[in-house]
Amino acid sequence: MSSYVTRKTPGNTEWFVHDRFGMFIHWGLYSLPARHEWVKSRECISEEKYDKYFKYFNPDLFDAREWARKAKEAGMKYAVFTAKHHEGFCMFDTKYTDYKCTNTPAGRDLVREFTDAFRAEGLRIGFYYSLIDWHHPDFPIDHYHPRRNDKDAKEQNKSRDMKKYAKYMRDQVTELLTNYGKIDILWFDFSYSKPATAPEWMSGKGKDDWEAEELIKTARSLQPEIIINNRTQIDQDLWTPEQYQPQEWVRHPETGELVVWEACQTFSGSWGYHRDEQTWKSPQMLIEMLVNTVSMGGNLLMNVGPTSRGYFDYRAENALRVYADWMKYNSRSIYGCTMAEPEFKAPFGCRLTQSQDGKRLYIHLFTYPYKFLELKDLAGKVDYAQFLHDGSEVLFKEKHPGHFSEGQTRSDNLLVITLPEVKPNVIVPVIELFLK
Ligand code: GLC
Repeated sequence: MSSYVTRKTPGNTEWFVHDRFGMFIHWGLYSLPARHEWVKSRECISEEKYDKYFKYFNPDLFDAREWARKAKEAGMKYAVFTAKHHEGFCMFDTKYTDYKCTNTPAGRDLVREFTDAFRAEGLRIGFYYSLIDWHHPDFPIDHYHPRRNDKDAKEQNKSRDMKKYAKYMRDQVTELLTNYGKIDILWFDFSYSKPATAPEWMSGKGKDDWEAEELIKTARSLQPEIIINNRTQIDQDLWTPEQYQPQEWVRHPETGELVVWEACQTFSGSWGYHRDEQTWKSPQMLIEMLVNTVSMGGNLLMNVGPTSRGYFDYRAENALRVYADWMKYNSRSIYGCTMAEPEFKAPFGCRLTQSQDGKRLYIHLFTYPYKFLELKDLAGKVDYAQFLHDGSEVLFKEKHPGHFSEGQTRSDNLLVITLPEVKPNVIVPVIELFLK
């Protein structure tokens, strides 16, 4: 059994740390301007102008079942969908605002279609819910808000009542966690402080503003097992490093305990559909990100930003295909796996994962080592070795393998695997070691 123990939390993370790989979906009105989901803030767009996107939002090609099939094929086991992003537009039929998809040409409850389709494919369901809201009349203007440069911005804030907004969030979270069956993850986003450069009358926002304790209590009373992230500023089940690869298992900043964590990453630089964004990650990077994450005991939430017409554009499709092709043959080194026990050291250019029952060790060859792979301290511990993608045996010798490093290094504990000189046709080949 894995010796790593994580900090105890209220939600059920057992399935989560087994499943390891999920799909993030950022979809909203910002898919029409198609230049980042923060476009309303970045360009300080007026309500009137932004309303054009509301008027013309028509995802005529949206087929949630197709999305669900693609997520499943890519090896993803759960999906987190933006029920509401910072722009404030609701992708579900809520009683508490008219600013919702059912009032656009879309004319249907998109959260419902997402939920039904993904559940039918056997995936678990998560909702992203933005704490920030650049449409709600009670959300106070701050340094991120699109109205921040209005001459009367300070004046406008006088009529904005955060308490009313906090209640609105509780009401909507209640709808989301009542009307759509079992929900596995609630992904809040996000708390922040005021930068020194922002005017005095503006403020950051955190747990007290969100009335986060109440909000979380409401969520837990409706879905006791749900996994909640930490971005309300109250520690819950999940730490969420964003757009970077942690170099070690994420720890609680105060207690130092290991925590359940999930890296979230984009295929390119934007979460929402961004037509002209060119920084798409290479197939090698995509696979390495997934492996890196699991090798540090984490999950990966990989984002897709669908077009306003409701489909994944060709670049997102290609990226998903990369995962599908690799996961079809190699998912055993991901599902039910975690960071390898400290006794196992990854050779140069490799990453290790180990099954949570401790019985199998996986070597991911990021750099293909030509013919021999030397593994220190593994002699006597391996019963059988094979490539994972095709289940073909790889031969190994132990202790004094008659290998050229003998006499140069201490070889007592050395295990040397002989590999085919030509790299197999797999982006990142994996060697599966069955331990004794
Ligand atoms: C950030 C961004 C946001 C994105 C999120 C995903 O906090 O504000 O646009 O949804 O990260 O982690």
